[in-house]
Amino acid sequence: MLNKLIRKSEKSISIPLGKRKENAQQEQLPGHIAIIMDGNGRWAKKRALPRIAGHHEGMKTVKKITRFANEVGIKVLTLYAFSTENWKRPKMEVEFLMRLPEEFLGTYLPELIEQNVQVQMMGNIESLPEHTKRAVQKAIDQTATNDGLILNFALNYGSRDEIVQAVSKIARDVQEGNVALEEISEALLSNHLMTKNLSEPDLLIRTSGEVRLSNFMLWQLAYTEFWFTDTLWPDFDESCLMDAIENYQKRNRRYGGLKEGEGN
Ligand code: FPP
Repeated sequence: MLNKLIRKSEKSISIPLGKRKENAQQEQLPGHIAIIMDGNGRWAKKRALPRIAGHHEGMKTVKKITRFANEVGIKVLTLYAFSTENWKRPKMEVEFLMRLPEEFLGTYLPELIEQNVQVQMMGNIESLPEHTKRAVQKAIDQTATNDGLILNFALNYGSRDEIVQAVSKIARDVQEGNVALEEISEALLSNHLMTKNLSEPDLLIRTSGEVRLSNFMLWQLAYTEFWFTDTLWPDFDESCLMDAIENYQKRNRRYGGLKEGEGN
């Protein structure tokens, strides 16, 4: 009962978002945040709307969260927009999802450029429809020299597939005598992944109450802090992102070791 009351009173003292942002900026921020954006379908179902309406609303959240993450000072934001398994969805839904990057970038690219955001993409670009490829490539080209937030879309991305491709490339290099067996290391494998130019995620967020990784960045998430929330992606807002960041800042990251003084 007491706990309930305390929790209630804590909730009612709401700190303005701007102040929360300032406070967070005084401490170590997660450099790279990766998000599994889940719950678009359920958001739509709750409103008796078609699933694609949820994806469309989810696209608006992408805009909101990108802008805010950039303002906070996050360096990399990786968003799981389409997995290698998502092709199993109904054709109409897949087609809609493949149109979303185009719509998003068609509408927001000038704003992303103005905000100094650099767009990147990881995943198998070759098997995307031409129109999706064109829209993404244009955004990558036009933002290539920006040095603010890196907005990295995982599109037609699957982590196992990524690892298989990396291993296969290394095996070929060994076979051709370009790499010695002894040179195979964690760093070498990391350098063959689609994230080779990025830091590993510090914080992973998954929305909608599902608690699994769904073939997302399996290698890169080895020491990442996880944050799961019941909020559905279209309802996820700036304050939800602050909740995750604030919680991250209270974590004690040890990377398998001990903090100074803990060994005594
Ligand atoms: C999972 O929700 C979401 C997806 C498979 C697609 C995510 C895409 C977006 C949020 C929009 C992307 C925007 C851009 C700019 C590329 P779900 O459909 O599995 O939801 P459910 O579990 O409630 O059914």
